[in-house]
Amino acid sequence: MPIFLDTGNLKEIDLFHRMGIIRGVTTNPTILLKEGVTGGIQGIEARIKEIARLVAPLPVSVEVMTNDRDEMIRQALMMFSWAENIVVKITIHGPEGELDNLEVVHELEAKHNVRINVTAMMSAQQCFLAALADATYVSIFGGRVNNMGYNVCEELIKLRKLLDQFTLKSQIIVGSTREVLNVVEWLGAGAHIVTVIPDLLRGIIVHPYSKETIQMFLRDGAKLEAMFKANNALE
Ligand code: E4P
Repeated sequence: MPIFLDTGNLKEIDLFHRMGIIRGVTTNPTILLKEGVTGGIQGIEARIKEIARLVAPLPVSVEVMTNDRDEMIRQALMMFSWAENIVVKITIHGPEGELDNLEVVHELEAKHNVRINVTAMMSAQQCFLAALADATYVSIFGGRVNNMGYNVCEELIKLRKLLDQFTLKSQIIVGSTREVLNVVEWLGAGAHIVTVIPDLLRGIIVHPYSKETIQMFLRDGAKLEAMFKANNALE
């Protein structure tokens, strides 16, 4: 399922979903804030339910907004109940490296059948451990990894090999897209899914040379039409 859309914008989701080219949606608190979602948890619930309805049965990821162990479980169970296609995002660890999160992931997946997307990961080994904890999706942030001076493709190659070697169920999502090239490059390196921002999808579809070619076709089509009309007028 190669392309997810990384946005909380309903118009963008509707546009690309109608084209049939996306297979899911991912959000995070920063994305929802940028999209102007207000009204606290009720506002988030309303927006996520709208997205989930729009793209059902495709998966929609929404992230818990706490790092307290019990509160993470409470929010995850609540969010998962919003729609049948919800996936809950949990970060790999807490803001200071607290280690509660993988236990929470394992409990939610194994005991409560909640689909979890473990997020904010920067390396193959983090993702491997999240996969061992039973995560449905493991999210590595490609653009951020590359910005640190490493090539995320190397992490993706290692990670995909490990998941296949130990037949782990997790699907690799690579997010944090920065360039048009990221999509084919990261899928080629072994990611199951790239979650792409809407502007990059536009950048993939629209090519300046395609534009020039299409303009030529339309110009020449109009000339053919004009010639046909002129011939008819003479007869
Ligand atoms: C993906 O699931 C992430 O939420 C997202 O791609 C992060 O992107 P950023 O690095 O641009 O914040």
